[in-house]
Amino acid sequence: MTKIIAHRGLSAIAPENTFYSFNPMVDYDLDWFETDVSITADGELVLLHDDRLDRTTDHNGEISAQLFDDIIDADAGSWFGPEFAQASLLTMDDLTQFVSQTGMNLNLELKGITGPNCSALADQLVAKLVPYLRNINSQVNLIISSFSPIMLLKLHAAAPELAYAVLYDEHQFLDDWQLIADACDAQYIHLDQVDATPENINAIHARGFQVNVYTVNDIETVNYLTTLGVDGVFTDVAHQLVARKVPAMA
Ligand code: G3P
Ligand code: MG
Repeated sequence: MTKIIAHRGLSAIAPENTFYSFNPMVDYDLDWFETDVSITADGELVLLHDDRLDRTTDHNGEISAQLFDDIIDADAGSWFGPEFAQASLLTMDDLTQFVSQTGMNLNLELKGITGPNCSALADQLVAKLVPYLRNINSQVNLIISSFSPIMLLKLHAAAPELAYAVLYDEHQFLDDWQLIADACDAQYIHLDQVDATPENINAIHARGFQVNVYTVNDIETVNYLTTLGVDGVFTDVAHQLVARKVPAMA
């Protein structure tokens, strides 16, 4: 059975990584979602996909250069539509509460940290994150993923008991892929759909890893990947791929 993983929540119908895209997941038979975590200059954890605030909020600049108090009131919804103007950035406290309330399984993606203070910030991100992850992992299934081997290795050193996934950018899944996966004791490989060939999927399975594929927004490709035996797909349109639990009001 291929898992349907709501990518940044129901991000095709509401602003990604906010309660507007998270809360409606509950109305569907969805049991997995993905979100992204980053860190501010003063060490607070915020759910944000991009390195910068510009695309998805009314603020600008790199998240790792901002103070938490300066950004936490940002409007994280108007970029998507005026009806979402009340959407705010979410924290790890918000995420933990959402998971506790819904019981949904989580793939948390750690963003790589760049900039002059990146090593110290990465260490701070790991130190702050571990208690949250242990709490979440005690309640639901949790997969930690990252494109950044450094982030995976740092977090794995601090919390080896968690489940890890190595994320590969488009066309970056190369012959030596298992080196990083073994170094962080990963159980999952996360591939861009262009790299989700039968050969790659079979090779990953043959070595005992599961494979989840991103970001697949058309049903034909989801069906095709299912026939190839992928273990999960990330999609912005999870609501279209599963049955609604509660009939929509007329
Ligand atoms: O983890 C799957 C997917 O989220 C990776 O790509 O850029 O959407 O975070 P991105
Ligand atoms: Mg992501």
